[in-house]
Formats: sequence, structure tokens, C-alpha cells
Amino acid sequence: MKVGIIMGGVSSEREVSLMTGAEMMAHLDKSRYEVYPIEINDTRELVSKTEGIDLALLALHGKYGEDGTVQGTLESLGIPYTGSGVLSSSVCMDKDLSKKLLRYEGVPIADWIMVGSMEEFAAADVGELGYPVVVKPNAGGSSIGTRIVRGPADLVPAVEEALKWDRSVMIEQFIEGEELTCPVLNGEILPIVAIKPHSEFFDYTSKYKEGEADEQVIELPEELQGQVCTVVLQCYKSLKCSVYARVDIILKNGVPYVLEVNTLPGLTKNSLLPRSAEAAGYSFSGLLDAIIETSLL
Ligand code: DAL
Ligand code: MG
Repeated sequence: MKVGIIMGGVSSEREVSLMTGAEMMAHLDKSRYEVYPIEINDTRELVSKTEGIDLALLALHGKYGEDGTVQGTLESLGIPYTGSGVLSSSVCMDKDLSKKLLRYEGVPIADWIMVGSMEEFAAADVGELGYPVVVKPNAGGSSIGTRIVRGPADLVPAVEEALKWDRSVMIEQFIEGEELTCPVLNGEILPIVAIKPHSEFFDYTSKYKEGEADEQVIELPEELQGQVCTVVLQCYKSLKCSVYARVDIILKNGVPYVLEVNTLPGLTKNSLLPRSAEAAGYSFSGLLDAIIETSLL
């Protein structure tokens, strides 16, 4: 089978995608697959560069990669690809829309408001959320353009910064608690990873730079573990994810608040999903085999 590893792309997470692609390239079982690294530098290249492959192994993150657009193009071309489908990918990439669905489902989440410009921001009642808040691009990833704001004085620059990355910005209550991440593979929850960043929050540097965060596979007390797993599967199912995903959570006073669901979670050297999968007995190449096999079902 000819497997094309699709990486790069044009989103703010291009560098992360290249790291995910490099890891996939290093670990994909060459005795099982004919492997072709395919770097995308322009969205139009997807069509010509995927010609002749039997499967697109998606190492893309963010806009034009994780948001359903690439998935839709590949569907049109009749090329199978890994991960969630068009609808789930688009919905999960839109933090606002996915939170609305999760709230409808009764999943614990922080309150938020959306602004699309500085004019809208000036008219918004941010005070009702209370401080601190998190300001983030609506369809961003890897915490790029994201800041924690502890008082009104820092809000304007944070919104201005987030608006550089997206036309739509989320201002969300900051839940101060224990950060957990919960990978799911084919509908099964993999071991939970607890994250202790050395910085104020799990930002870009602590996500990708060696030694900038302590990350540990944990087992929560039985009842809490059950509660977290229920919430994670509720997210995975209600947002119609398939194959694999990673649900990010803040645990506060025994309540698992869901931050977001990532449909193409990072598989870089420092990423959390491979670590969790390893604790469940998957080597990196075994994890890729499972992703590929499940995607072809
Ligand atoms: N957005 C990055 C790649 C992640 O969720 O791992
Ligand atoms: Mg994300």
C-alpha cells in the first residue's frame, strides 16, 4: 500500500505538522507500506501531490488540514485518509461551535464570549465572565495567539494579538486546576496524561520544547476516572469523531471541564498521545498501524 504522509500546510501550526510528519516518517513500518513524505506548501498542491497514493496519512494540524477542508478534497478525489471525517473535523476546529454542542450535551465547560473585531470587543461585557480569562483564536491550535489575562488592563493587547491569527476570538473563563489530556483510539480511551507546565500555562514552548513541562501517565481515583472517561467519550461521540482524537481537560474540584477536542492531535517527539499510547502497549509504529487500519474500516 502506498502511504503518503501529508505534512506542512499553510496554518500557524505548520512547524508542528512538520514535526508530526517527521515522527511518522521515522516510525512507519516500511516493510508494510511504501512510504511517501508529501510536504504541502500551498493548498492547491494537495491534488497533484497525492496522485497515485492509496492512503493519506494526515500529519497536518490547524486550518486547511485539521478543519475538514483537506478531508473534503480527499473525499472528492476518492483517496482514503486517516482520522475523523469532514463534519467532525470542521466542528472540532471551531471552538465556539463545538462548545455550543458540548453545552447542549451537558458536558462541563467554561463560559465564554466571542468577538470578531475590536469594535465588538468594546461593546462586549467581558466583566460578566470574571477574571482570569483566556483569550484565544477561535480556530487556532498549539496555544498560538493565546494568552491568559488576569485583569482588564491586559485584555486589549490579548484580543488584538488573537485577532492577528483569526477573524473570530474567544474570551473564556480560565479554569485554574489540574490539566489532563485524554487520547481516544477507535472509541477506546487511552491512559490519561497529567500535565504540569513550568510556565503559566501549557503554551507553545511547554508543549514542544523538551523539559518545559512534566507529563505523566496517571490513573485517577476510580470514581473520578470513570467520570472523566464518561465525559471524554461523550465528547468523542457527540462531535462525531472517528479513528482517534485527544480531549483536553482541566480538572477542578472533581469536575472535568473540557477545553477542546483535537481531531488531529500532535504526534511530535514531545506530544502526549504517543506517550499515552505507549503506556497502553503501543509502539509508535503500532499506533500508526492502528490509526491506518481503523481509518480503512
Ligand atoms: N494542535 C496540536 C497539534 C495538538 O493538539 O496536539
Ligand atoms: Mg488544540
